[in-house]
Formats: sequence, structure tokens, C-alpha cells
Amino acid sequence: TYVVTENCIKCKYQDCVEVCPVDCFYEGENFLVINPDECIDCGVCEPECPAEAIVPDSDDRADEWLEVNRAFSEKWPNITRKGDQLPDSDEWKDKPGKKELLSD
Ligand code: SF4
Ligand code: F3S
Repeated sequence: TYVVTENCIKCKYQDCVEVCPVDCFYEGENFLVINPDECIDCGVCEPECPAEAIVPDSDDRADEWLEVNRAFSEKWPNITRKGDQLPDSDEWKDKPGKKELLSD
């Protein structure tokens, strides 16, 4: 599976959802997640993310995020189309230490 990681927090550009062939993204207030059981590992979302937040589960950066993706994907609504962009998403791009800012 592919995994959404910290860089997505407060950016949530949503370009990823537009390309996913199996619609396996789920939406929180300031973060998206991938349902690891639905993802078919096609990899097309990875280069679409302007924040470089999406990584394959073989990447070290995925380790602490895989279970976060699984848990929230069971709880948040499915998203298949790009909605409004967060007003300050560009300001949060490339900022480190966003993990505490994830809105449940
Ligand atoms: Fe969807 Fe493919 Fe990305 Fe998995 S790797 S989330 S199937 S676009
Ligand atoms: Fe997040 Fe990147 Fe998608 S910022 S919403 S993973 S395009």
C-alpha cells in the first residue's frame, strides 16, 4: 500500500484523490489518508502530491503513518473529487513538526 504522511497535514492539496483508480482516500479536516486494504499499489498518486506526502509502505517514512492511515480510513468519509483548497496550505508546505496539528 501507499501511505499519506506528515507533509499532508494542513496542506491537503487533494490532487491525489483525482487520480486514484479505486477511490481509496478518506478525508479529515486537515489531512487525508489511504485505506491500506483498498489501495492497489498502482503508485499514480505519489508524484501528484505537491507536498510529497505520499510514500510506499517500503519507505521508512511510512512506518509511523501506516496505522494512522488505517485507523482514520475506517472513520472518515471517502473523498473522490478535489474540493476547496485550505486557505493557508502553501504556507504549511515543507514545514516540519506538523504531527501534533493533525485534526481528528
Ligand atoms: Fe490509489 Fe494507487 Fe495511490 Fe493506492 S497507490 S492510493 S490505489 S492512486
Ligand atoms: Fe495530502 Fe498531497 Fe493528497 S497534500 S491531500 S497527500 S495531494
